[in-house]
Amino acid sequence: MIGVESHLREKFIKVRNQSIKLCQPLKPEDYVVQPIVDVSPPKWHLAHTTWFFEQFLLIPNKSGYKVFDDDFSYLFNSYYETVGERVLRPNRGNMTRPGTDEIYKYRKYVDNQMLEFLVRNEINAALSNMLELGFHHEQQHQELLVTDIKFILGHNPLFPEYLTSGKEIPQRSNMDEEYIEVMGGLHSIGHRKNGFHFDNEKGVHNVFLHDFKILNRLITNGEYLEFMENGGYNNFEYWLSEGWEWANGLETNAPMYWHRMDDGWYRFTMHGLKPVIPSAPVTHVSYFEANAFANWKGKRLPTEFEWEAASNGLLEADVNQGNFVENDYLDPIAHQDGNNQMFGDAWEWTSSAYLPYPYYKTAESAIGEYNGKFMINQMVLRGGSCATPKDHIRNTYRNFWHPHLRWQFTGIRLAENI
Ligand SMILES: [Fe+2]
Repeated sequence: MIGVESHLREKFIKVRNQSIKLCQPLKPEDYVVQPIVDVSPPKWHLAHTTWFFEQFLLIPNKSGYKVFDDDFSYLFNSYYETVGERVLRPNRGNMTRPGTDEIYKYRKYVDNQMLEFLVRNEINAALSNMLELGFHHEQQHQELLVTDIKFILGHNPLFPEYLTSGKEIPQRSNMDEEYIEVMGGLHSIGHRKNGFHFDNEKGVHNVFLHDFKILNRLITNGEYLEFMENGGYNNFEYWLSEGWEWANGLETNAPMYWHRMDDGWYRFTMHGLKPVIPSAPVTHVSYFEANAFANWKGKRLPTEFEWEAASNGLLEADVNQGNFVENDYLDPIAHQDGNNQMFGDAWEWTSSAYLPYPYYKTAESAIGEYNGKFMINQMVLRGGSCATPKDHIRNTYRNFWHPHLRWQFTGIRLAENI
């Protein structure tokens, strides 16, 4: 009979192997660089996710556990003040040592210790929750591995391919705008089911919504190109003041990874430099760009509450058919019938500031630092992307980024009042 522990062991192995798989196409030098402060070296992600299991599972719970290396907590703690001092974020790329081979040894050591722990110990509810947090934490870093690797390769003048045998990206010609009507009234927001969720989704509460309509797909590259060609980046009327200032500092008036060539626009993808596909969703846009596009269209971005209410009815079909990391496209694909692209493809900017829900409580341990302290100056994104593992997403999942950032697979969905 398969018990709870063996289920957790299998999940542990699966999650840990996926991080290794994502790094397999890398050259040794790719593991180390940190081209901008937001992009961490792949080697750092591999070590930090390992440190998380060591710090929060093995040290407090496995009797007689001996840490792999006393210095690693200083090197690979990300932002946990509770745990102690650490290498500051901008300096992660300076660590040429320990070498990547040493990090792989660290992973093996902690994996073996964890598997032994999961065989020998009874896993109570608190331990099981912490393990799940470790899995989802590693999955978050897997998404960052994809987007950070994309940034590293995409800012190399040679535009190296990450995946050489990419599948052909599905396209389509008909991209009508269809809006789904959602009735207003009181809508229940927040995570109420069993199963894993982050603390920032907790605190089920009612939100009053007016009747609204939401687009049944993501905004495409073709539509965004129209905005560009209509002087979208040259008209202050579409932009927030901070956004206008930000846009004026851009090297190219286009989404990140777009390059103008003699025969049209190209974008860097994980399959190298490719012509822009008009029917595929636009990605790598900042909140400022998403908001300006919506203003140009005479529409608006949905609030996170509208997004959650709209996705409730669409959840199952969209999750099951969504374009997630498992598809191996690592690129968003054109809207397909029977799916509203609410899950997978691109994280969708909402017009909601990332704030605590009513009844939000910060956990007392170091884990209290996981989400709550970032609830300032960031916007909520919903739905997951083509770099998100499918079993990592929920319709209550709240992602959050600063409004100028766009190295994640970030896209646009429009809404309007009825
Ligand atoms: Fe982390």
